[in-house]
Amino acid sequence: MEKNYNNLAQVADSLLGSWYYDPAIYEKELRNLWTNQWLYVCSEAQLYEPLMYQTFKIGHYSVIVLRDKGGELRAYHNVCRHRGATLCTEAQGKLRNNTLLCPYHNWLFSAQSGELMRAPTTVPDNFDQSAQGLFKVQIQSFRGFIFINLDENADWHNEGVFQSCYSPIIEKYPTQEMVIGDVWNKTVDCNWKIYWENFSECYHCPNIHPELSDLVPIFSRRIQNTEDVENWEENYDETDPKMAGGLREGAETWSADGSAQGHFIVSPEELEGHQYSTTLPTMFLGTYVDHIRTVRILPLSPTTMELSVEWLFKKETLEDPNYDMENVTEFAKLVMEQDAWACEINQKGVMNPRFEKGTLMPEEYIVKEFHDWVRPFID
Ligand code: FES
Ligand SMILES: [Fe+2]
Repeated sequence: MEKNYNNLAQVADSLLGSWYYDPAIYEKELRNLWTNQWLYVCSEAQLYEPLMYQTFKIGHYSVIVLRDKGGELRAYHNVCRHRGATLCTEAQGKLRNNTLLCPYHNWLFSAQSGELMRAPTTVPDNFDQSAQGLFKVQIQSFRGFIFINLDENADWHNEGVFQSCYSPIIEKYPTQEMVIGDVWNKTVDCNWKIYWENFSECYHCPNIHPELSDLVPIFSRRIQNTEDVENWEENYDETDPKMAGGLREGAETWSADGSAQGHFIVSPEELEGHQYSTTLPTMFLGTYVDHIRTVRILPLSPTTMELSVEWLFKKETLEDPNYDMENVTEFAKLVMEQDAWACEINQKGVMNPRFEKGTLMPEEYIVKEFHDWVRPFID
């Protein structure tokens, strides 16, 4: 009989332990994967005014993403064409005018086109100024979320984003007009794949996330979806959220007390608690009745990654003096600190040479899907 539930019917091998720390594997990933995927960097809401910029580190690469004077988004490699100095040494800021000035010998580039505008000396006639522009990076905004691609020839396909999982509910959120309430950056001492694995299962939920498992009772069963387990149809008429999914009785959003404080972008009935959209290898986006949370993952080294989390709200929500944003942000930070801790003990463990590889249990079916996605880039 055809299997009609999500959990794995058989256990499966995990990736080799060395894939989480071997520099050669990491180099392969950077070369085969990170340089040709559309990578989420930040929401447009973070670059809300012309001349604002941010820099992003992706393995050995550093990229500047900016909004030029005319309001267009641009992306360049963060390296000067003269002798290769870092152009922007800050993580973010505002350009003084529509230019990028190298701090080393002051070559001046157009922020709009990347062209070299001026080298501060008389230039010999064998110097081709037009060939000295900044290296361009592909950039595209999707519903207010900015993606870059290090492959200069990459094509953008809307359907390629959120390829792993797309909740159409996002179309009901005014994402282009939403504003940033908070941004939280954290270096996590784990390989980037460990973070994805942790996100992909709730096998760890009851013991790692007691508060979250109280808010989302189905998590206390170590599963994410009603259809995960065998014979789930028998509970089809159940309304208890422990069996039916969704938030605990009376709760509206992911917050410390479960309250959305009267702010609804979509109705609780429509959303059924929360929904997720995922775009590998960089981002997942959670939709909640009163806000959106994006979580972005970028690799820093074989054993470290940078987490960056954004909370987006409707402008009027943040303008409401009675709305306590920390009710939302502090709750999610608690959960993400718990996940970061789990990822870090996982990283330390897999680096023990005695550990060759692990075993995926039935609940870890999305981890298996992730492994099946990543393996061809490395093998
Ligand atoms: S390295 Fe940039 S101006 Fe010299
Ligand atoms: Fe978790």
